[in-house]
Amino acid sequence: MAPQERFFVTGALGCIGAWVVRHLVREGAEVTVFDRGRDRRRLALVMEPEELARVRFVHGDITATEAVCRALEEAQATHVIHLAALQVPFCKARPPLGAAVNVVGTVNVFEAAKALGLGQVVYASSFAVYGRRSEYAHRILPPDAEPRPFTHYGVYKLANEGNARVYWQDDGIASIGLRPYTVYGPGRDQGMTSAPTQAMLAAVEGRPFHIPFGGVCALQYVDDVARIFVQAARTPVQGALVFNLRGSIVHMQEVVSAIEAVEPQAQGLITCGTAPLPFPDGAEDGALRSLLGEVPHTPLQEGVARTMEHFRHALARGILSPSSGTPD
Ligand SMILES: NC(=O)c1ccc[n+]([C@@H]2O[C@H](COP(=O)([O-])OP(=O)(O)OC[C@H]3O[C@@H](n4cnc5c(N)ncnc54)[C@H](O)[C@@H]3O)[C@@H](O)[C@H]2O)c1
Repeated sequence: MAPQERFFVTGALGCIGAWVVRHLVREGAEVTVFDRGRDRRRLALVMEPEELARVRFVHGDITATEAVCRALEEAQATHVIHLAALQVPFCKARPPLGAAVNVVGTVNVFEAAKALGLGQVVYASSFAVYGRRSEYAHRILPPDAEPRPFTHYGVYKLANEGNARVYWQDDGIASIGLRPYTVYGPGRDQGMTSAPTQAMLAAVEGRPFHIPFGGVCALQYVDDVARIFVQAARTPVQGALVFNLRGSIVHMQEVVSAIEAVEPQAQGLITCGTAPLPFPDGAEDGALRSLLGEVPHTPLQEGVARTMEHFRHALARGILSPSSGTPD
């Protein structure tokens, strides 16, 4: 790590953000967290108190242009990882707020980067920019598959990719947008695809849990995703690049089996539906690996085992209260 690195991470009280911050703090980087929330439970779940004490917190709303610009400037940031967003169900329930947070919020991050003279932004896009599985000839999408979002959330994420292109064209701000599919692991407790992680927690607690979907989809361990964001932020690029993430492309029944392999007593307690998620199974990530070199990849069984061990440990230490992982 270069000594002068100062990371500015938006939405870092969330699942991916907590792991990004954990990773950076363990490397000794300076980290400023910008988030509207005040609940540090995900950070506390994945970091030690003395690590958390090294993080600088700015409480602010990503939709407020001035506040974002001021915070970025005060942090004297050298790297920006923009994760703040509202997920699919929240955007569906409140589309105007979703547009403000997800689209205006991202524009604000680019504006702040421009004001500070920062040359690059890394931001979270999503696999939700793609259309329904029936619209594609491939089950695993090639890099040139056409985005056809069918949710407000997906449309907002695609708009961000378009705005990123314009910031490169007009202002020379380079960017990397990363499109995760289903992220799982400690801290994943909200959003449409959080059910596999909730099932892992339920199994540790000996509770029944039904994952409401089935079929094949891509699952990626949150620590891998976080490391990829950090790697991308440290990789200077030209242009407004966007990459799919891959992870493990697996059947939901394999997830149930992986949970049972870790906790045999969960047999029969954890079930999944039959209907697959509406999206294609996953996407190739060759283009991302060409840019970054090898990307971290934790195999499903290992990621499930690590997640369940983490939950067991956190429950025993009282960091996670029983059943607190149920959907918000
Ligand atoms: N988790 C996934 O499977 C997944 C998949 C695809 C894309 N993504 C994207 O990755 C990013 C991180 O995902 P996550 O799972 O960590 O999300 P999360 O919902 O756990 O966290 C989002 C964070 O954004 C913050 N936030 C919301 N509104 C804000 C506002 N107005 N101002 C400032 N902060 C605000 C929240 O307080 C929260 O801490 C998001 O952009 C998400 O859309 C996630």
